[in-house]
Amino acid sequence: MSLEEKLQASIRQTDALLDRLLGPAATPAVRLIEAMRHATLGPGKRLRPFLLAQSAALFDVPEDVALATGAALECMHCYSLVHDDLPAMDNDDLRRGRPTVHRAFDEATAILTGDALQTFAFEILAGLNVAAGIRVKLISELAKASGMAGMAGGQMLDISAETRVISDVSEIVLIQSLKTGALFRFACGAGAILGDSDPSPLRQYADHIGLAFQIADDILDVESTPETLGKATQKDSGKGKATFVDLWGMADARRKADELVLSAIAALDGYGPHADTLREVARFIVSRRK
Ligand code: IPE
Ligand code: IPE
Ligand code: MG
Ligand code: MG
Ligand code: MG
Repeated sequence: MSLEEKLQASIRQTDALLDRLLGPAATPAVRLIEAMRHATLGPGKRLRPFLLAQSAALFDVPEDVALATGAALECMHCYSLVHDDLPAMDNDDLRRGRPTVHRAFDEATAILTGDALQTFAFEILAGLNVAAGIRVKLISELAKASGMAGMAGGQMLDISAETRVISDVSEIVLIQSLKTGALFRFACGAGAILGDSDPSPLRQYADHIGLAFQIADDILDVESTPETLGKATQKDSGKGKATFVDLWGMADARRKADELVLSAIAALDGYGPHADTLREVARFIVSRRK
């Protein structure tokens, strides 16, 4: 199977599970569940659940467990997008080729959708069919990855950086590694945690691809179109966002992303050919068109 076929198969599995978990019977709040479905079931890449499934496969973790953990992570990621798009944050109208949640519904519904998706992620993890110690570890890791020292902290730094000039590379690396990298780190480390193994090599891989992924996101913001990308483009510079493209220019940003791919691939050396799909994902992350 090609990477594209593997990705598509994984998307179908994740979407089928989310569709079932977020069924109409999940809550009497019909508007909320409709908005949660809008936020999660649109045409996203589902890259984080795919990374999770691929890292779990290295440790022979049962597929249904990896799939459920990936669905929890996707809920967390989709919550971050819903809030990221809010008028008080990036103020975006388009996501995954469709109106953002606050546009399709309203702001209050979008805030509640994010709240409910975040807690639902933990509900899914708490119900995983694995040893209690592993469940607690995953819950703790996802809380850290998405909270003050992870995604939410990174988003705070990202927003604060809009009002001043950043000339220090290490500061941008820190912002990106929190706002985007932390959930990638969880995605890749969770496979090893589920397999009761050492997550450090996969976390190193994740750090490199997480950064490469955000550099690619920043490049696409400059070079792509809303039709291809499914979200507005040319928005970072207008908002004064701190990006690598801004700091280094396009050519160096691209070079840096390519270097990160090589480092990511090197971090997988200990896993041999079993990790070939993860190596392909690393290359895909910087060559993707959306
Ligand atoms: C977008 O993430 C937000 C960033 C962290 C840059 P994705 O590009 O993975 O978004 P979807 O899930 O495919 O829509
Ligand atoms: C978003 O980064 C990161 C998170 C949602 C945590 P961006 O603001 O660059 O993502 P896009 O470009 O809106 O998808
Ligand atoms: Mg943002
Ligand atoms: Mg944004
Ligand atoms: Mg962006």
